[in-house]
Amino acid sequence: MLNDFVNQCKSLPSNSKLLILGGGYSGQHIAALAKSLGNEVICSRRSISSPGADCAFDSKIQKLPTNNCLANVTHLLSCIPPDANGNDPVLQNLNSKIKSMPLQWVGYLSTTGVYGDCKGEWVKESDQPKPQLKRSQIRLQCEKAWQKSGLPLQILRLPGIYGPGRSAIDNIRAGKAKMVDKPGQVFSRVHIDDIAGAIFHLIHLASEGTMPNIVNIADNHPSSNVEVMQFAASLLKTSLPPLEPFEIAAKQMSPMALSFWKENRKVSNHLLCNELGYSLVHSDYQSGLKDCFKSKQ
Ligand SMILES: NC(=O)c1ccc[n+]([C@@H]2O[C@H](COP(=O)([O-])OP(=O)(O)OC[C@H]3O[C@@H](n4cnc5c(N)ncnc54)[C@H](OP(=O)(O)O)[C@@H]3O)[C@@H](O)[C@H]2O)c1
Repeated sequence: MLNDFVNQCKSLPSNSKLLILGGGYSGQHIAALAKSLGNEVICSRRSISSPGADCAFDSKIQKLPTNNCLANVTHLLSCIPPDANGNDPVLQNLNSKIKSMPLQWVGYLSTTGVYGDCKGEWVKESDQPKPQLKRSQIRLQCEKAWQKSGLPLQILRLPGIYGPGRSAIDNIRAGKAKMVDKPGQVFSRVHIDDIAGAIFHLIHLASEGTMPNIVNIADNHPSSNVEVMQFAASLLKTSLPPLEPFEIAAKQMSPMALSFWKENRKVSNHLLCNELGYSLVHSDYQSGLKDCFKSKQ
């Protein structure tokens, strides 16, 4: 995380305590930014021995965070996906405890998958979600459950998350590069620094009374996977496997991988960047991948 980036981020209001439920890839990065800004932050993982875990929460085995972890929380962020039964692990297990917290802001990390296939067109928060995939329908149900909770909630819809340790650069280094050619197919992305930076920006705006219910956090340039792989390979000064037509590559894809290629949309960040005034750190994959390349992770 660059010093310049930390310096341009806004800290939480004084005497705040941030609880991040699900300190995985995004949760840990957001916690790191909170700490760099001097804020009190507590992060849950399923095992207390996992890196960055301040408390344990695992809905599957009813392992709940201690009262000490939950005390005086003013800002809550859930980074936990729906469970195997399609329920939200946080609302199912911590609803009454959360309702007794002095919460000023609650964030729920969701996915732009809820929009469904948009045939390559732009999609924004005010568009009606039309999820076709089962997992996206479940996600929309979880969003609705959070909305019904009556908490001071902001839903943050994310496209493909990448950053140090999780990018095209890592795929190439691991020998897992694939050059799937599907003309017209694009994917939206967001660099992890911009998820963290946008969240602190939105919390600051919420403290001033501006808090849209749903915000997309995405970069400016949806683009093809081939383009991204080519740029990553140029940074690594390495070659890539030949292009493979989608129809052939699809035969060897897992059902999960295949499902991503079934939908095509460009996620608009107009609300976040134009109306709410957030400045992206990495406005496109070139900038983001250069950061991943420089990072030691
Ligand atoms: N990856 C993407 O490209 C992408 C795109 C759009 C949206 N999203 C969504 O954004 C959120 C954050 O993504 P991410 O990639 O940072 O996720 P991640 O690294 O997989 O982290 C998920 C976190 O949830 C915790 N968790 C999972 N099941 C749990 C349960 N039953 N009880 C308690 N904790 C549980 C995990 O615990 P451990 O730390 O113990 O593993 C982990 O901390 C997720 O909801 C994800 O679905 C992801």
